[in-house]
Amino acid sequence: PRKVIIDTDPGLDDAVGILLALNHPAFDVRAITTVAGNIGIERTTANAGRLLSAMGRESVPYARGAAKPLSGSGRDEETIHGSDGLGGVALPEPAAPVSGLSAVELFSELLIGAEPGEIDILALGPLTNLAALYLADKDAFARIGRVIIMGGTINEPGNAGPYAEFNMAADPKAAQIVFGSGAEIVLIPLDVTRRLRATPDYLQRLASLETRAAQISADLIAAYFADNAARESRPLHDPCVMLYHLAPKLFEIEPMALAVNDGDRPGALTQVQHGPAINVAMGIDAQAALDCLSDGLGKT
Ligand code: BDR
Ligand code: CA
Repeated sequence: PRKVIIDTDPGLDDAVGILLALNHPAFDVRAITTVAGNIGIERTTANAGRLLSAMGRESVPYARGAAKPLSGSGRDEETIHGSDGLGGVALPEPAAPVSGLSAVELFSELLIGAEPGEIDILALGPLTNLAALYLADKDAFARIGRVIIMGGTINEPGNAGPYAEFNMAADPKAAQIVFGSGAEIVLIPLDVTRRLRATPDYLQRLASLETRAAQISADLIAAYFADNAARESRPLHDPCVMLYHLAPKLFEIEPMALAVNDGDRPGALTQVQHGPAINVAMGIDAQAALDCLSDGLGKT
């Protein structure tokens, strides 16, 4: 298994990705760090602790990260993710207290304590914590293996206004810093994540699996339908990051240099001639990816 730190703002789709990582032997989850995004920092942090408890993984540390973005206003997605960020799904309260370290301090400690390149970051929310790590501790940052990010849109309309995707719009400055950092990045934009869709049938398939990870995921996805029961399917954005970690061959990758707008269209991405190349996922074998997700959540 590869060592990973999950940086996240749970969030219904974050939670499904986290459950997959906690249930699957290909992930050695060293920590969960939280960021404000889908909901405020107190809630996203409590939700990380609750998910660890639900999976009996109290020994995995979780640390509170940034409450406010470096730029942008942040945004509250309460209408989609419910007033607790997890759609009211029943979960135990955190069995272990939040780490005494901040997210950035915990990143530093774990990265400095590991071999260079040994730990990957799975980034499911606004990039505030990673940018803060880059600004605070370049030695630790340079030891990151690979950063797999859910964020952005290349050719599709945004979901935080017409031009931008939520995680980019919530902190464009942080995205600029991370994209310019020289880290090895894989970006999974809406162009791909909107293709990975849960239908009511898929929800039934998860509900029929007996693991806790699959059962809770079925509840989370059911809650994801709750804001509008007439929808035929819901996109599974953040689990794409975990699926890339598990099975990169499911994705088509195109290297591009990207600029992040921090002005009139906050969070919008444009392709530019010069700049570090980012590996951007532009295609997915959605059927095989759904199978991979349910297999992983159902693994005993
Ligand atoms: C992203 O925004 C959040 O609402 C989701 O959790 C996901 O990370 C999708 O644009
Ligand atoms: Ca998220």
